Amino acid sequence: MLDIKLAPATEHKAKPDESKLGFGIYYTDNMFIVDHTEGIGWHDARIVPYAPIALDPAAMVLHYAMESFEGMKAYRTPNGDIQLFRPDKNAERMINTNRRMCLPSLPVEDFVQAVKALVSVEKDWVPHQPGTSLYIRPFVIATEPHLGVRTSKTHQFIIICSPVGAYYSTGINPVKIFVEDEYTRACPGGTGFTKCGGNYAASLISQVKAHELGYEQTLWLDSQEHKYVEEVGSMNCFFKIDGTVYTAPTVGTVLPGVTRMSCIDLLKKWGIPVSEDRLPIADVMQASKDGKLEEVFGTGTAAVISPVGELRYEGDVAYINNGEIGEISHKLYDTLTGIQWGIIEDDMGWTVKVD
Ligand code: COI
Repeated sequence: MLDIKLAPATEHKAKPDESKLGFGIYYTDNMFIVDHTEGIGWHDARIVPYAPIALDPAAMVLHYAMESFEGMKAYRTPNGDIQLFRPDKNAERMINTNRRMCLPSLPVEDFVQAVKALVSVEKDWVPHQPGTSLYIRPFVIATEPHLGVRTSKTHQFIIICSPVGAYYSTGINPVKIFVEDEYTRACPGGTGFTKCGGNYAASLISQVKAHELGYEQTLWLDSQEHKYVEEVGSMNCFFKIDGTVYTAPTVGTVLPGVTRMSCIDLLKKWGIPVSEDRLPIADVMQASKDGKLEEVFGTGTAAVISPVGELRYEGDVAYINNGEIGEISHKLYDTLTGIQWGIIEDDMGWTVKVD
């Protein structure tokens, strides 16, 4: 249990127009910080005004990307309550990330306590309009000034919050995805399963390439054979082929998404066959030619459910469901967001109230 000192802002920023939030543009009045020192552990937990942080220019995070992060959301229900979605899953994933990245972790209870404490102070920032939420970004950075490559002796765990609308400017309309066949995102034994900034930095070259070709995002293939579909970087990816829903296994190169696992749980509950076997991209393109590629969609905390309308692979293009959202994607979106926004009953026990 953390002893959190409350020293929040006394002046409040003007709230942005909820119909024009976009993603990750506005930040709330306060942030949570706790320090970690080797030999002492976590100390000085506090909620303080949102402000630039002072870092020594030699801080290890700036040189060796020694950091990790999480993404989660707080939702406003119709009766004005504020709730989180499976926050323990983010806490557990951060522990797994930090083990791989040699960063210190907060225990699950302390992580959730810190998120709840900040969201409670920032309640008024949880937007009201349908489709909006308060995005929560916990992250850990190595703060020790040192240029030798080794683990850091000091760290900070920080949480910031941002009121958001849809991640993609297209909203729930299908996105166009470019299948990357040159660069790779993750290899066995690497950091692909973690939420570390380096994974995202290394993916940008492909996103730039995709944009130049008129596509929004990249679908990554496995690094060894460039054969099997993995993930979209900002989302996990699902393919409905001839009645079965496929998604890549989380075997070390794919992020174990909280939305991914929730979709699998819902699909199984609805009796829809789900396969986590490796899926060759060639099978996806062939299924499209055979008229059996019924739906493709991405899942993520930021993106929620994002239908894919077009896939381009080596000059071949698959058009999916006439560029419209598919039945299963729609049902998953309605059910997940219904539970998250408190519109339908949470019979999965996934939501956690913030007092
Ligand atoms: C999320 O879905 O929360 C993510 O972290 C994806 C992206 C914004 C980095």
